[in-house]
Amino acid sequence: MTLPALLSSLRIPVIGSPLFIISGPDLVIAQCKAGIVGSFPALNARPQALLDEWLHRITEELAAHNRAHPDRPAAPFAVNQIVHKSNDRLEADLATCAKWQVPIVITSLGAREDLNTAVHGWGGITLHDVIDDRFARKAIEKGADGLIAVAAGAGGHAGRLSPFAIVQEIRQWFTGPLALSGSIATGDAVLAAQAMGADLAYIGSPFIATDEANADPAYKDGIVAGKASDIIYSNLFTGVHGNYLRQSIETAGLDPDNLPDGDLKTMNFGGGNSAKPKAWKEIWGSGQGIGVVDRIEPVAARIDRLAAQYDAARARVLAR
Ligand SMILES: Cc1cc2nc3c(=O)[nH]c(=O)nc-3n(C[C@H](O)[C@H](O)[C@H](O)COP(=O)(O)O)c2cc1C
Repeated sequence: MTLPALLSSLRIPVIGSPLFIISGPDLVIAQCKAGIVGSFPALNARPQALLDEWLHRITEELAAHNRAHPDRPAAPFAVNQIVHKSNDRLEADLATCAKWQVPIVITSLGAREDLNTAVHGWGGITLHDVIDDRFARKAIEKGADGLIAVAAGAGGHAGRLSPFAIVQEIRQWFTGPLALSGSIATGDAVLAAQAMGADLAYIGSPFIATDEANADPAYKDGIVAGKASDIIYSNLFTGVHGNYLRQSIETAGLDPDNLPDGDLKTMNFGGGNSAKPKAWKEIWGSGQGIGVVDRIEPVAARIDRLAAQYDAARARVLAR
């Protein structure tokens, strides 16, 4: 699939980003049916054999939707692979993605040439997420088709750079598909990402507060109640810096304003019983853009609103 083909298949230029624990088939199918790319981390399907069932269900339900609604077909979906030496499932997960010819593979952490070649072998495209220009160049050298620039303010493992800085630098030399991640929560901000030079907006945290998200009701409420000033940037929980909701850190008995440093060696993406799911279950990841998320609602309603805001913002800017 090429970028123009991808963009023309979307209602608005948005990828619903992969969310550890939270995104599964319900969320992905709802996102794709509503016209944006839906995605999930392969590691969310536990045990590994569940990934086959998930891909079967997603493929069949989207195909059924397309037969029933040829006028508004579903957007393609993506699977996120964590390319880290601790991920002992990677080869098995890739083989399952090959079986279902997953249209888009999003890679995080490591850039690997053989993985890009494998995805291209079944006609898929790869997008690699990066937090600076150096990693962006490395990813493209290794054969990724496109990039996701993860700027400051993103949920989960966020970068430190201003979105302007990272997009400007990447656009000096890269003309391929580029998505921007970090605090995008309105249609206006989707348009801004495009004006800045990105092709797509990559949106995570706002989808936590939806009916289809696999998240504790209190976590969803926390996203609705939270504002940018409630987000704490720390490396304590996984060894890598990420953004988390202050309330969940307090509930865990820690002082959000005096967190010790984490240890990179604690990073573990294994298929077994790593400590990480517990950390993400109790310590709630969130980006800074949640101040505009004011309700829990179905994914389709959230995407309807994003699309209406996007159209209104475009008309407003064009009228100037
Ligand atoms: C709770 C949570 C879990 C996440 N898990 C993953 C993950 O497993 N893999 C990944 O590539 N990105 C993950 N991310 C990062 C998102 O894909 C994305 O970059 C980010 O959510 C975008 O910023 P936003 O939340 O401000 O919209 C996670 C983010 C959050 C909030």
